[in-house]
Amino acid sequence: MNKKYFYSALVLILLMATSCQKKEEKIVKPEGLRDVFKDNFLIGAALNVNQILEKDSVQSALIASEFNSVTPENVMKSMLIHPQKDTFNFEIPDKLVALAEKNDMHVQGHTLVWHSQLSPFFKEITDSTEMVEVLTNHINTIVGRYKGKIDAWDVVNEALNDDGTLRKTVFLDVLGEDYLSLVFKIAEKVDPNVELYYNDYSMTNPSKRAGAIKMIKRMQELGTKVNGIGMQGHWDLDTPSLEEIEKSIVDYADLGIKVAITELDVSVIPMPWDFTGADVNVKFESGDATMNPYPNKLPDSIQVKLANRYADIFKLFLKHQDKISRVTLWGVNDGESWKNDWPINGRTNYPLLFDRNNGKKKAYYSIVNLKADSKE
Ligand code: XIL
Repeated sequence: MNKKYFYSALVLILLMATSCQKKEEKIVKPEGLRDVFKDNFLIGAALNVNQILEKDSVQSALIASEFNSVTPENVMKSMLIHPQKDTFNFEIPDKLVALAEKNDMHVQGHTLVWHSQLSPFFKEITDSTEMVEVLTNHINTIVGRYKGKIDAWDVVNEALNDDGTLRKTVFLDVLGEDYLSLVFKIAEKVDPNVELYYNDYSMTNPSKRAGAIKMIKRMQELGTKVNGIGMQGHWDLDTPSLEEIEKSIVDYADLGIKVAITELDVSVIPMPWDFTGADVNVKFESGDATMNPYPNKLPDSIQVKLANRYADIFKLFLKHQDKISRVTLWGVNDGESWKNDWPINGRTNYPLLFDRNNGKKKAYYSIVNLKADSKE
């Protein structure tokens, strides 16, 4: 090739390369889960402190492009946001709300009244007038601060035992069963537009489901506004059954309220003995190696099983999308999941949609593909 042809060819190649690059630039933004499920329900994640403070820019970008709802994993629990009667810590919660505003996200407040991670001063109250005063101050201050910024609150978390009876807590002891209505009404008064949810685990168990329905009906009879039920969704590869999940969604929606899946994760490692649920106060000793079967890598066969389980669960969510307001994952990537340390410390679990390097897992593609299939 003579020099002239050589230079013309070079220019042509360069031109083609730039035009390809331009084309690629036009399609740079890949669809995230928030786009994929935009016509179905909100898709959220629980954020830890580092994520709220945007310590890792790669993960911050991922959170912004994948999710359109956020829940604070811990920082709005009473022992952190209201550690002493006259002390509130709003610094990190404020940052969560700002992050959501910046990324056009829905915010789920979690949680106002809960017996776990509870500020010690609540436990010392024995007088009902004082309890009402303290709860009113707690709810007024927190809900009031985020009025118009937080879209929905888990007003009460985990008030039920597995058999459907009311859990014995300091709130039940001091105020009796209608403390539930009382706290929902306080929240409604402060921010009449905020959505009010009751949130709990094992909400697919028939006896707990019956108890939850009875409890919500009682609140409705008392004229209490309840917008929805949060089914936490700390599930396993095989349990709960799809039938029980579906029956629960349908029965809760029959109360005339919304259903949210609020803390979804699917554990792939064994629970100790026959223990079920998500009571954060129950912990076990580390046990033997059989309790931590995949310390280095998740075998492909289990990765596939997890993907199929996520697909089955999301198929149900899509089938009942008219009843479901939001599906929130309890964490972003496997490495940060609470399921590595609960109910046994120091194990390696793989319950979420992103791996320890923030890579998309088969489970991620399995739920996205449900939508691709339905478009065909
Ligand atoms: C968990 C957090 O993920 C952990 O970091 C913390 O140590 C304990 O609480 N049900 C709930 C959540 O409603 O708030 C819990 O979150 C998990 C069970």
